[in-house]
Amino acid sequence: MPVSAKAATLIIPLCLCSYFPTSLTHNINKHIRFSYTIFQRIKLTEKSARSKRSPVPIRAKDEQDLSKVPGRAGIDYPLFRSVPPTNFHCGSVPYAPGIYANVETGCQAYHICHDGREGHQGASFLCPNGTLFNQHEFACDWWYNVNCADATRLYE
Ligand SMILES: *[C@@H]1O[C@H](CO)[C@@H](O)[C@H](O)[C@H]1NC(C)=O
Repeated sequence: MPVSAKAATLIIPLCLCSYFPTSLTHNINKHIRFSYTIFQRIKLTEKSARSKRSPVPIRAKDEQDLSKVPGRAGIDYPLFRSVPPTNFHCGSVPYAPGIYANVETGCQAYHICHDGREGHQGASFLCPNGTLFNQHEFACDWWYNVNCADATRLYE
């Protein structure tokens, strides 16, 4: 082998050695950092999932905690268990389909009048205790935000 060729076979690997390792280690570092970030994320989500599972007693559906709701239960706001029969009639509301607060229940109940399939009261629902149907917003809202007496005026 001529000297120059021998030198070339030595030089090329040397060049490769000094070239690849930096980019390789750079890539490896990048991968390690990436995996580490993912690992941290997984650890965080596991931690928050564990803290969510932690000892919150499960309440029976009926045993609702109204202690955080301002006002007196059953006095300031009604406590219906189901929608009672009332004089509400879908035949006397201005629009169908429409959604209407039931003032006879203090607005805890509301009705959806549409094609008459569910009878003269339409589809009937109750807002959760402590909330009333806000005819202005078409949604259940805290009792102190709702003026039930205004509901029929807002039907129009
Ligand atoms: C409201 O509270 C009463 C009394 O605790 C309960 O019987 C009823 O089921 C509750 N109604 C709703 C809609 O959660």
